[in-house]
Amino acid sequence: MTDTQSDTPDTPDANAPDVHEPDVILFKPTRVEPAPRPRVLAIANQKGGVGKTTTAINLGTALAAIGENVLIVDLDPQGNASTGLGIDRRDRRTSTYDVLTGATPMRAAVLQTGVPQLFIAPSTMDLTGFELEVGRERDRAFRLRNALVALNAGERAYDFTYVLVDCPPSLNLLTVNAMAAADSILVPLQCEFFALEGLSQLLKTVEQVKTTLNPTLSIHGIVLTMYDSRNNLSSQVVADVREFMGPKVYDTVIPRNVRISEAPSYGKPVLVYDLKCVGSEAYLRLATEIIQREKELKAG
Ligand SMILES: Nc1ncnc2c1ncn2[C@@H]1O[C@H](COP(=O)(O)OP(=O)(O)OP(=O)(O)O)[C@@H](O)[C@H]1O
Ligand SMILES: [Mg+2]
Repeated sequence: MTDTQSDTPDTPDANAPDVHEPDVILFKPTRVEPAPRPRVLAIANQKGGVGKTTTAINLGTALAAIGENVLIVDLDPQGNASTGLGIDRRDRRTSTYDVLTGATPMRAAVLQTGVPQLFIAPSTMDLTGFELEVGRERDRAFRLRNALVALNAGERAYDFTYVLVDCPPSLNLLTVNAMAAADSILVPLQCEFFALEGLSQLLKTVEQVKTTLNPTLSIHGIVLTMYDSRNNLSSQVVADVREFMGPKVYDTVIPRNVRISEAPSYGKPVLVYDLKCVGSEAYLRLATEIIQREKELKAG
């Protein structure tokens, strides 16, 4: 250790990095004691285009804004979370593929985003080869879980309090890794006719992971996305999903909003791109609800 602050007490306040000095946060180690593991939430649905990545980016932004140190793990070879947070493909020299194949520790893949206290472990198309390469290894389902064990250990400048895993649209080994590593799962469901189709398959997979790989896994909640108030079908879907899944469905419904779909092309979360739009307001409400549920889970 080279730093005089190395004996900083192990409290959340002392952990809070100076948000104005990202380089210092990343490169000046001040801590060596192991810290509590972060909360790990996997954002999963095998259906494509339902709002997983949008939810990961904006929930991550909202959690960072209230003082959490958030890491988004991009586990989708499409790399949309990385692109949506403005990470150029040329800067993804170390990716989640390198982490899952054991070539590098998670910390080595972490990049600072434009949002203070929000970080990302980016992905590349290499991830498409993961299943083929690792699918026969005994620890194949625990690669992410094992990589996260070392996240808040060793010489480092700060600790993560939340990890959000952005899953690919598939129930493949990548998603199973996310579920095996997670405390809880967040499921975005698009307000469309086939919304519930596939949900039972997803819930079955969660049950299987729970019995075989991760006994404490739970469903955090279901978020309805892309709600269109001019469309009767949307409200019918909301009613059906609430009837089927009861209190697991968050009160907040995310509306279809053009600002949400524009933001990724600027490499920004919608909460940064246009804080006042209805999409941002909805994601802030959702984050508040999720944080409230987190508090209840911690207390109970
Ligand atoms: N509430 C919304 N209003 C308008 N557009 C939205 C909304 N949510 C997401 N989108 C847009 O819909 C598309 C799909 O969203 P997103 O990428 O978040 O879904 P996904 O589930 O991660 O998709 P994939 O399964 O391909 O990873 C994106 O172009 C996104 O910008
Ligand atoms: Mg996605």
